Amino acid sequence: MDTVKVALIGFGTIGTGVAKILFGQRERIARAVGRNVELTRICDKDTQRDRGVKLPPDVLTDDLNAISNDSEISTVVELVGGIEPARSIILSLLKSGKNVVTANKALLATHGSEIFDAARSYNRSVSFEAAVGGAIPVINAISTALQANELRQLQAIVNGTCNFILTQMEEHGTNYATAVAEAQRLGYAEANPAMDVNGTDTVQKLAILAHLGFGVKLNWQDIPRTGIDTVEAIDIVYAKRLGYRIKLLAVAEATPDGIELYVSPTLVKIDTPVANVRDSFNIVRIVGDVAGDIVLQGRGAGELPTASAVVGDMIDTILGRAKITFDILNLWGKERPVTKIKNPAEICGKNYLRFLVEDRPGVLAEIAGILGRHKISIASVLQQQDNESDDSPATLIFMTHISREGDTIAAIDTIDSLACVRGKTVRMRVE
Ligand SMILES: NC(=O)c1ccc[n+]([C@@H]2O[C@H](COP(=O)([O-])OP(=O)(O)OC[C@H]3O[C@@H](n4cnc5c(N)ncnc54)[C@H](OP(=O)(O)O)[C@@H]3O)[C@@H](O)[C@H]2O)c1
Repeated sequence: MDTVKVALIGFGTIGTGVAKILFGQRERIARAVGRNVELTRICDKDTQRDRGVKLPPDVLTDDLNAISNDSEISTVVELVGGIEPARSIILSLLKSGKNVVTANKALLATHGSEIFDAARSYNRSVSFEAAVGGAIPVINAISTALQANELRQLQAIVNGTCNFILTQMEEHGTNYATAVAEAQRLGYAEANPAMDVNGTDTVQKLAILAHLGFGVKLNWQDIPRTGIDTVEAIDIVYAKRLGYRIKLLAVAEATPDGIELYVSPTLVKIDTPVANVRDSFNIVRIVGDVAGDIVLQGRGAGELPTASAVVGDMIDTILGRAKITFDILNLWGKERPVTKIKNPAEICGKNYLRFLVEDRPGVLAEIAGILGRHKISIASVLQQQDNESDDSPATLIFMTHISREGDTIAAIDTIDSLACVRGKTVRMRVE
């Protein structure tokens, strides 16, 4: 059997998983490819650390040129992460004639256009299944199997750390800080989990999915984003009482006025598949015009699940399938028609609003009046006094009917400036 040579840059969590699969499952991979796949080089800054994988001699190097200059290596996996040097490494690999596989969502969401243009100009491919949803084949599903569809809607939980934190808070009554610490202890969250909890990671993945599925071309920074760092334990309790669970949702939806896009903690009805995704699992729900409703669910992160997607991309690249899809999709291509994005202020939806107010007559009517003047009608109200003392504030929970985002924001601004309001209003979308 012939042998094909591949290489890997970045021998961290996912890189280790890729090496374990390629060395541990040689025969399975050879059967899938029809040739032996030899991981000839692994490049990392640190060649001394024990990664728990026994490597043949001379595989590990800290010299990138050992990969770029080896003309027998056709496919290289970038698993360094972050923007630089990952961007320069990928551009130089493409220039030296390599096809690239990456899991780097931050890089693709920020520099996708430059990287994909470079790949086209050197007649190479870039594959990125592992960049969104870990083991879940969502990129493949949208790029190939669902091509007969115009996508209507995409709704996803694509950050396992956030979902784990929300699950801990709901099921064990854990407070936010303790749940974050637990996510770090279990290796789900980074040492600095800010990019997860403030919604950046989710919004970068949504930017990739929205480009792939809806033709949207925009800076991920322009997508409205709220993270789970705004969620308090009390909101999880009230949501449950109302029949909902709070999930960090990435949403893209086609409307006559353009594609609606946002990332937000959202109250989701307890009986739905999305509400029942627990811990670090991910889910992507896609609605196509001819396929209807499709749900993909699985492990969204971690060494082997993510490496599974990376190795799948390597196999597709070696077989030439990745290049066919890459050329046809023309991702981030200049001549691709640009899909209109809906003005975020015009997005319509139901909301959960929590106000902390003085407990005196007239306050509820004053707030309801402001909402009414902004064309927001109220579906239900829940009132609770925080403790028995006369001057303790009261909590008001309003569930609204559908209103415009711009009206909701304006109403909350007005309400937050009232003398009777004791804290910043908490708002979450309701599915
Ligand atoms: N972890 C997950 O569950 C997961 C899931 C989906 C996607 N991803 C994506 O997969 C990629 C890799 O993530 P990871 O979790 O495996 O990261 P990681 O554990 O931090 O691994 C990155 C590795 O690259 C090395 N490195 C840094 N700069 C380098 C350079 N210039 N040349 C060679 N090696 C270099 C790092 O060495 P040092 O440690 O010495 O810096 C580290 O060993 C990222 O793009 C990430 O977003 C990860």
